Amino acid sequence: MKRLQKYISECGIASRRKAEELIISGKVSVNGVIVTTLGTKVNETDVVMVNNKLIKKDLKEYYLLYKPREVISSVKDNKNRKTVCDLIKTETRIFPVGRLDYDTTGIILLTNDGELSNILMHPSREVTKEYYAKVKGFFKKEDAVKLSSGVILNGKKTKKAVFKLDRYDKKNDVSYVKAVITEGRNHQVKDMFKLFNYDVVKLKREKYAFLDLTGLKSGEYRSLSLKEVKKLYSLK
Ligand code: URA
Repeated sequence: MKRLQKYISECGIASRRKAEELIISGKVSVNGVIVTTLGTKVNETDVVMVNNKLIKKDLKEYYLLYKPREVISSVKDNKNRKTVCDLIKTETRIFPVGRLDYDTTGIILLTNDGELSNILMHPSREVTKEYYAKVKGFFKKEDAVKLSSGVILNGKKTKKAVFKLDRYDKKNDVSYVKAVITEGRNHQVKDMFKLFNYDVVKLKREKYAFLDLTGLKSGEYRSLSLKEVKKLYSLK
Protein backbone atom coordinates (compact mmCIF):
# COMPACT_ATOMS: atom_id res chain seq x y z
CA MET A 1 0.00 0.00 0.00
CA LYS A 2 1.23 3.50 -0.70
CA ARG A 3 0.03 7.02 -0.31
CA LEU A 4 -2.24 8.16 -3.12
CA GLN A 5 -0.14 11.23 -4.01
CA LYS A 6 2.99 9.06 -4.23
CA TYR A 7 1.19 6.55 -6.44
CA ILE A 8 -0.02 9.31 -8.78
CA SER A 9 3.44 10.80 -9.11
CA GLU A 10 5.00 7.38 -9.74
CA CYS A 11 2.58 6.90 -12.60
CA GLY A 12 4.18 9.99 -14.16
CA ILE A 13 0.99 12.05 -14.05
CA ALA A 14 2.23 14.87 -11.84
CA SER A 15 4.78 15.76 -9.22
CA ARG A 16 3.99 14.75 -5.64
CA ARG A 17 2.92 18.31 -4.81
CA LYS A 18 0.76 18.67 -7.91
CA ALA A 19 -0.78 15.30 -7.11
CA GLU A 20 -1.74 16.61 -3.67
CA GLU A 21 -3.43 19.59 -5.30
CA LEU A 22 -5.33 17.30 -7.65
CA ILE A 23 -6.54 15.23 -4.71
CA ILE A 24 -7.60 18.25 -2.64
CA SER A 25 -9.46 19.76 -5.56
CA GLY A 26 -11.53 16.61 -6.05
CA LYS A 27 -9.99 15.47 -9.32
CA VAL A 28 -9.01 12.03 -8.08
CA SER A 29 -11.16 8.97 -7.54
CA VAL A 30 -10.31 5.59 -6.10
CA ASN A 31 -12.55 2.68 -7.07
CA GLY A 32 -15.17 5.12 -8.31
CA VAL A 33 -15.26 7.33 -5.22
CA ILE A 34 -13.80 10.85 -5.20
CA VAL A 35 -11.08 11.03 -2.59
CA THR A 36 -9.97 14.36 -1.13
CA THR A 37 -8.02 13.08 1.86
CA LEU A 38 -4.27 13.23 1.46
CA GLY A 39 -2.52 10.07 2.51
CA THR A 40 -5.26 7.67 1.46
CA LYS A 41 -3.53 4.35 0.86
CA VAL A 42 -3.82 2.49 -2.45
CA ASN A 43 -2.21 -0.48 -4.15
CA GLU A 44 -1.84 -1.76 -7.73
CA THR A 45 -5.28 -3.38 -7.70
CA ASP A 46 -7.14 -0.13 -6.92
CA VAL A 47 -8.72 1.73 -9.83
CA VAL A 48 -7.29 5.22 -9.60
CA MET A 49 -8.62 7.91 -11.93
CA VAL A 50 -7.38 11.47 -12.38
CA ASN A 51 -9.71 13.79 -14.26
CA ASN A 52 -11.79 10.73 -15.13
CA LYS A 53 -8.85 8.99 -16.74
CA LEU A 54 -7.53 5.68 -15.48
CA ILE A 55 -3.90 5.89 -14.46
CA LYS A 56 -1.60 2.91 -14.37
CA LYS A 57 1.87 2.33 -13.20
CA ASP A 58 4.26 1.84 -16.09
CA LEU A 59 5.25 -1.66 -15.15
CA LYS A 60 8.59 -2.70 -16.51
CA GLU A 61 8.85 -5.72 -18.75
CA TYR A 62 11.99 -7.70 -19.56
CA TYR A 63 12.28 -10.42 -22.18
CA LEU A 64 15.03 -12.68 -23.37
CA LEU A 65 14.46 -13.69 -27.00
CA TYR A 66 16.18 -16.32 -29.11
CA LYS A 67 16.31 -14.27 -32.29
CA PRO A 68 15.95 -16.23 -35.52
CA ARG A 69 17.61 -15.27 -38.81
CA GLU A 70 15.84 -12.76 -41.04
CA VAL A 71 14.41 -10.71 -38.22
CA ILE A 72 15.46 -7.13 -37.71
CA SER A 73 16.58 -5.81 -34.32
CA SER A 74 14.45 -2.70 -34.15
CA VAL A 75 10.98 -1.58 -33.15
CA LYS A 76 9.85 -0.87 -36.72
CA ASP A 77 11.25 -1.51 -40.16
CA ASN A 78 10.65 0.74 -43.14
CA LYS A 79 10.91 -2.27 -45.46
CA ASN A 80 8.21 -4.04 -43.45
CA ARG A 81 10.46 -6.89 -42.41
CA LYS A 82 9.68 -8.82 -39.25
CA THR A 83 11.16 -7.21 -36.13
CA VAL A 84 12.22 -8.68 -32.79
CA CYS A 85 9.32 -6.79 -31.19
CA ASP A 86 6.83 -8.59 -33.47
CA LEU A 87 7.88 -11.85 -31.83
CA ILE A 88 6.90 -10.80 -28.29
CA LYS A 89 3.25 -10.83 -27.26
CA THR A 90 2.75 -7.64 -25.28
CA GLU A 91 0.81 -4.40 -25.56
CA THR A 92 3.76 -2.54 -24.04
CA ARG A 93 6.11 -0.50 -26.20
CA ILE A 94 9.29 -2.48 -25.75
CA PHE A 95 12.57 -2.13 -27.63
CA PRO A 96 15.69 -4.26 -28.09
CA VAL A 97 18.79 -3.62 -25.99
CA GLY A 98 21.41 -3.23 -28.71
CA ARG A 99 21.30 -5.05 -31.99
CA LEU A 100 21.98 -8.27 -33.75
CA ASP A 101 22.35 -8.25 -37.54
CA TYR A 102 19.46 -9.42 -39.72
CA ASP A 103 21.23 -12.74 -40.34
CA THR A 104 22.64 -13.19 -36.81
CA THR A 105 20.76 -15.48 -34.44
CA GLY A 106 20.76 -15.79 -30.68
CA ILE A 107 20.15 -13.99 -27.45
CA ILE A 108 18.76 -10.48 -27.35
CA LEU A 109 17.03 -8.62 -24.53
CA LEU A 110 13.93 -6.49 -24.96
CA THR A 111 12.42 -4.14 -22.41
CA ASN A 112 10.63 -0.86 -21.83
CA ASP A 113 13.19 0.02 -19.16
CA GLY A 114 15.31 2.78 -20.66
CA GLU A 115 17.44 3.08 -17.56
CA LEU A 116 18.57 -0.54 -17.64
CA SER A 117 19.10 -0.38 -21.38
CA ASN A 118 21.40 2.63 -20.97
CA ILE A 119 23.35 0.88 -18.25
CA LEU A 120 23.86 -2.25 -20.32
CA MET A 121 24.81 -0.36 -23.47
CA HIS A 122 27.27 1.95 -21.75
CA PRO A 123 30.81 1.02 -22.87
CA SER A 124 32.12 1.31 -19.30
CA ARG A 125 29.98 -1.65 -18.20
CA GLU A 126 31.84 -3.97 -20.55
CA VAL A 127 29.00 -6.47 -20.67
CA THR A 128 30.34 -9.71 -22.13
CA LYS A 129 28.73 -11.04 -25.27
CA GLU A 130 29.65 -14.51 -26.36
CA TYR A 131 29.34 -15.52 -30.01
CA TYR A 132 29.79 -18.73 -31.93
CA ALA A 133 30.89 -18.14 -35.51
CA LYS A 134 31.26 -20.36 -38.54
CA VAL A 135 33.91 -18.83 -40.79
CA LYS A 136 35.39 -19.85 -44.10
CA GLY A 137 38.86 -21.41 -44.06
CA PHE A 138 41.17 -22.47 -41.26
CA PHE A 139 41.21 -20.02 -38.36
CA LYS A 140 44.88 -19.52 -37.55
CA LYS A 141 46.21 -19.34 -34.02
CA GLU A 142 48.19 -16.17 -34.79
CA ASP A 143 45.00 -14.40 -35.93
CA ALA A 144 43.20 -15.56 -32.78
CA VAL A 145 45.97 -14.03 -30.68
CA LYS A 146 45.84 -10.70 -32.53
CA LEU A 147 42.04 -10.48 -32.44
CA SER A 148 42.04 -11.32 -28.74
CA SER A 149 44.58 -8.71 -27.76
CA GLY A 150 42.98 -5.91 -29.79
CA VAL A 151 43.05 -4.67 -33.37
CA ILE A 152 42.40 -1.33 -35.02
CA LEU A 153 38.84 -1.31 -36.30
CA ASN A 154 37.57 1.87 -37.96
CA GLY A 155 40.46 3.81 -36.44
CA LYS A 156 39.88 2.64 -32.88
CA LYS A 157 41.45 -0.24 -31.03
CA THR A 158 39.13 -2.98 -29.92
CA LYS A 159 39.15 -3.97 -26.27
CA LYS A 160 40.60 -7.27 -25.09
CA ALA A 161 38.53 -10.18 -26.33
CA VAL A 162 38.67 -13.93 -26.58
CA PHE A 163 38.83 -15.52 -30.04
CA LYS A 164 39.34 -19.24 -29.92
CA LEU A 165 39.11 -22.00 -32.51
CA ASP A 166 36.67 -24.64 -31.36
CA ARG A 167 36.79 -26.97 -34.34
CA TYR A 168 38.02 -27.08 -37.93
CA ASP A 169 35.92 -28.97 -40.46
CA LYS A 170 38.53 -29.96 -43.00
CA LYS A 171 36.11 -31.51 -45.46
CA ASN A 172 34.12 -28.27 -45.85
CA ASP A 173 37.07 -26.00 -45.04
CA VAL A 174 35.22 -24.05 -42.35
CA SER A 175 36.17 -23.17 -38.78
CA TYR A 176 33.95 -22.87 -35.73
CA VAL A 177 35.18 -20.09 -33.49
CA LYS A 178 34.13 -18.81 -30.09
CA ALA A 179 34.34 -15.02 -29.83
CA VAL A 180 33.76 -13.10 -26.60
CA ILE A 181 33.70 -9.30 -26.76
CA THR A 182 32.76 -6.60 -24.28
CA GLU A 183 31.94 -3.83 -26.76
CA GLY A 184 28.92 -3.43 -28.98
CA ARG A 185 30.05 -1.72 -32.15
CA ASN A 186 28.02 -2.30 -35.30
CA HIS A 187 28.94 -5.56 -37.06
CA GLN A 188 31.90 -5.79 -34.74
CA VAL A 189 32.49 -9.54 -34.81
CA LYS A 190 32.11 -9.85 -38.57
CA ASP A 191 34.35 -6.82 -39.14
CA MET A 192 37.01 -8.21 -36.82
CA PHE A 193 37.07 -11.50 -38.74
CA LYS A 194 37.12 -9.58 -42.01
CA LEU A 195 40.32 -7.78 -40.99
CA PHE A 196 42.01 -11.18 -41.31
CA ASN A 197 40.05 -12.16 -44.42
CA TYR A 198 37.65 -14.57 -42.80
CA ASP A 199 34.10 -14.53 -44.13
CA VAL A 200 31.48 -15.23 -41.51
CA VAL A 201 28.98 -17.77 -42.78
CA LYS A 202 26.93 -17.97 -39.59
CA LEU A 203 26.92 -16.02 -36.36
CA LYS A 204 25.04 -16.82 -33.18
CA ARG A 205 25.12 -14.97 -29.87
CA GLU A 206 25.06 -17.62 -27.18
CA LYS A 207 25.48 -15.51 -24.06
CA TYR A 208 24.74 -11.99 -22.91
CA ALA A 209 26.37 -11.27 -19.55
CA PHE A 210 25.33 -14.25 -17.38
CA LEU A 211 22.26 -15.04 -19.52
CA ASP A 212 22.08 -17.80 -22.10
CA LEU A 213 19.54 -19.55 -24.32
CA THR A 214 18.88 -22.58 -22.13
CA GLY A 215 15.39 -23.98 -22.69
CA LEU A 216 14.57 -21.80 -25.70
CA LYS A 217 14.22 -22.69 -29.36
CA SER A 218 14.73 -20.19 -32.15
CA GLY A 219 11.89 -17.64 -32.07
CA GLU A 220 10.97 -18.41 -28.46
CA TYR A 221 11.34 -16.06 -25.52
CA ARG A 222 10.88 -15.84 -21.79
CA SER A 223 10.56 -13.10 -19.19
CA LEU A 224 13.53 -12.33 -17.00
CA SER A 225 13.12 -13.02 -13.29
CA LEU A 226 13.36 -10.20 -10.78
CA LYS A 227 16.63 -11.72 -9.59
CA GLU A 228 18.07 -11.60 -13.12
CA VAL A 229 16.96 -7.99 -13.58
CA LYS A 230 18.60 -7.01 -10.30
CA LYS A 231 21.77 -8.79 -11.32
CA LEU A 232 21.83 -6.92 -14.64
CA TYR A 233 21.42 -3.63 -12.77
CA SER A 234 24.35 -4.47 -10.56
CA LEU A 235 26.77 -5.55 -13.28
CA LYS A 236 30.11 -4.07 -12.35
N1 URA B 1 28.79 -8.60 -34.40
C1 URA B 1 28.37 -8.72 -35.67
O1 URA B 1 29.14 -8.62 -36.60
N2 URA B 1 27.06 -8.94 -35.87
C2 URA B 1 26.17 -9.08 -34.89
O2 URA B 1 25.00 -9.31 -35.15
C3 URA B 1 26.63 -8.95 -33.57
C4 URA B 1 27.96 -8.71 -33.36
